[in-house]
Amino acid sequence: MQTSTVESEANRLREKIEKDFAEARQRTLDLLEPLRQEDLYRQHNRLMSPIAWDVGHIGNFEELWGIRSLPNSGEVFPELDEMYDAVKNPRSVRDKLPLPDREELRSYLTQIRRAVLERLRSVDFSSETHPLLQDGFVYQMLLQHEYQHNETILQTLQLKLGDPYVPTLPLRSLPEENPEVKGMVDIPSGDFFMGTDQVSGVYDNERKRHRVHLPSYRIGIAPVTNGEFLEFVDAGGYRNRELWSAEGWAFVTESEIDAPKYWFRNSDGGWMTRSMAIVGPLNLRRPVIHVCWHEAEAYCRFVGMRLPTEAEWERAAAWDADREESLLFPWGNSPWSSERANLDMLGMMTAEVGAYPSGVSPVGCHQMIGDVWEWVSSDFTSYPGFEAFPYDEYSKIFFGTDYKVLRGGSWATRPGAIRNTFRNWDYPIRRQIFSGFRVASDT
Ligand code: AVJ
Ligand code: FE
Repeated sequence: MQTSTVESEANRLREKIEKDFAEARQRTLDLLEPLRQEDLYRQHNRLMSPIAWDVGHIGNFEELWGIRSLPNSGEVFPELDEMYDAVKNPRSVRDKLPLPDREELRSYLTQIRRAVLERLRSVDFSSETHPLLQDGFVYQMLLQHEYQHNETILQTLQLKLGDPYVPTLPLRSLPEENPEVKGMVDIPSGDFFMGTDQVSGVYDNERKRHRVHLPSYRIGIAPVTNGEFLEFVDAGGYRNRELWSAEGWAFVTESEIDAPKYWFRNSDGGWMTRSMAIVGPLNLRRPVIHVCWHEAEAYCRFVGMRLPTEAEWERAAAWDADREESLLFPWGNSPWSSERANLDMLGMMTAEVGAYPSGVSPVGCHQMIGDVWEWVSSDFTSYPGFEAFPYDEYSKIFFGTDYKVLRGGSWATRPGAIRNTFRNWDYPIRRQIFSGFRVASDT
């Protein structure tokens, strides 16, 4: 390639990064806008950080990777590393940290961002320069980190007691009068390729792309709905020992749960739900949300089915068997738009099953991206050929049997933080996340 072409491509990438950075930061600030002092600094729940910690940590992470890990330094605040070290300070202790006040936080974010952008003007994205800079890798990582913490902040806001969270940004209305979508999709046995070899824009745990053989199976055409889950609740599913694993049963009995988190009964005994500030009778056609892996597993047993494996999920979301290639999103390789899936927070709740006919995957599965993170049966483990990059604490230290995988993103996920190969993980008892599931079975 000619030097001038390389340069103009680099400039295009630079401009794209600047634009995405500005948009990401604007969203973070918009999210925080309606919050009062105590909303920001209180530890609303021991599972979550005070929101001010998430905010400062976004800045510190940006400083570590966007300035200090790159050649040539800029303005930095190394004395804050201790405070925002996620491993040294588990969530439960973060309210005891001397977190900076709102003004200081904001100015910290601004100063770091200015230094990062200053350096961005002169970096070289070519392969020879620096592995973190190649194709803009580090900037894509920073963007996704901010997006992910936005969703974490929303989990905290959904948990918080007192007045429910009302965003300043206008809500997006979700599709109404949706076609009925029910049943299972049959998938023939065969090979497909799981994961990706892309580096910039994805996480290390999504690599390497590898061939997987799957026997034939069936998978839910859509996530399990509130209506379907209600049958399990009404049939005494939470009190039926036979439907639960030993670990699951220990969890239900200890936690004394008898319904998904955020379901509650009104005075007539009817079920209601709350998503952020939206309260109403349980909508039977929306995907069930805020269930843990154990609840998902017990429901599957109740209906004589099982959770899909992670490979089965990705095969159903991504594989275009006619062209023998993997798609970035269920609908293809074009970027997200609001007719394709319920992402990007502003719906502030799940949409009904069937609401996104133009977002279906090649096999015809609905809503694999958006609405609810979907639990799969698999543990969070590495793919063949995995190499930690750029740091062990993103994925590597979490591999093993402690965590279960979730796929597909939720209504609260920013579009830049989700794709068919994206892997999320959490403990099988967690319900504050925006999690649901779909069923599967052998054929
Ligand atoms: C991928 C959602 C499990 O929140 O712990 C944020 C994302 N990693 N900062 C998490 C993450 C570092 C991570 N999850
Ligand atoms: Fe983080």
